[in-house]
Amino acid sequence: MSIKEVIDALKNVDLREAGINQNVAKMVKDAKFTGGTLTLVIEPPREGLEDVIRVKVVEALEKLPDVKNVDVKFVKPKAQQPPPQFQQPMFTRKKVPGVKHIVAVGSGKGGVGKSTVATNLALALSRLGYKVGLLDADVYGPSVPTLMGLKGERVNVDQFQRLIPLEKYGIKVLSIGFMLPSEDTPVIWRGPMLMKALTEFLFSTKWGDLDYLIMDLPPGTGDVQITLAQNVQLDGALVVTTPQDVALSDVKKAVTMFKEVNIPVLGVVENMAYFICPSDGQKYYIFGKGKVAQFASNYGLKILGSIPIDPDLAQRSDEGKPVVVSEPDSEVSKAFMGIAKVLTETLQKKN
Ligand SMILES: Nc1ncnc2c1ncn2[C@@H]1O[C@H](COP(=O)(O)OP(=O)(O)OP(=O)(O)O)[C@@H](O)[C@H]1O
Ligand SMILES: [Mg+2]
Repeated sequence: MSIKEVIDALKNVDLREAGINQNVAKMVKDAKFTGGTLTLVIEPPREGLEDVIRVKVVEALEKLPDVKNVDVKFVKPKAQQPPPQFQQPMFTRKKVPGVKHIVAVGSGKGGVGKSTVATNLALALSRLGYKVGLLDADVYGPSVPTLMGLKGERVNVDQFQRLIPLEKYGIKVLSIGFMLPSEDTPVIWRGPMLMKALTEFLFSTKWGDLDYLIMDLPPGTGDVQITLAQNVQLDGALVVTTPQDVALSDVKKAVTMFKEVNIPVLGVVENMAYFICPSDGQKYYIFGKGKVAQFASNYGLKILGSIPIDPDLAQRSDEGKPVVVSEPDSEVSKAFMGIAKVLTETLQKKN
């Protein structure tokens, strides 16, 4: 195989959706092909684009005959920094190649049901016929492995060093939990490491073609949210809250933060909205009625759906059998299916 063939293959790589107009073939500084390994040296137009360029380059070159391995090395961009008054923003928001929509699920408060909502929403979208991925961005306390019945599983990388998401119940799943020595290992990340891990999760994973990538965020308004906001082109975020005053006051902070970092809030999911008493079939609004609606209307937000309190939901989650797949006809599953439909409609209208 000749280097010309390599360059020709690279000419077809389209990086525009990642915000890069320059052709990658022109960024190649050196190329060698020995013993099935293709080694490229690339000079990116600016720093911070390495991950997305690597994924696209590997995708284009792994198809070439005789190529067993693609090793992409980067040199620092030589281009002079523009003078300070014309300096680029420090971060560029990138799309994840092949992924049509990215939606984050967040809240201000812990324990309101973000992970439960993210997981069941992902599965509901899959039941609607979409190709779906679920990313556990809760690097501090990953719970997706438990919820998806993937506790103790490990993630692999392919020969191109890309992470391969696990697959369960028809969706692709990735969590930092699949990379820790044991589930009890606390994750103590320093800021820059966290940043690297998260961006690597997103950009160096072989997601394939996805209609939706749902991200389960950690509680609060901390560095994970900021990192994502700075680096990823999200379609928006859903905020989960319960009707309790403490949860509502925290979710307001989350909404303000999303607005500050320019992530559209696509809507509110009201969790633990009411309890349906099994003996009389009546709805009981244990935490009060109408509070979430009031909050949503004050902030000009839409409620995408309300999920009842259901002891079965908690149990199925602990067993790793999310209700949307294990009890598809239950009231909660219907609520999740409804939220999935409203979300897809909201995004269609937005685009
Ligand atoms: N509608 C519901 N009915 C009953 N139990 C629920 C409901 N929603 C969530 N739970 C339970 O509440 C607990 C917290 O839910 P979950 O882990 O999804 O919250 P979280 O917001 O992701 O928490 P964290 O902030 O720790 O990430 C879990 O045990 C879950 O099974
Ligand atoms: Mg969680």
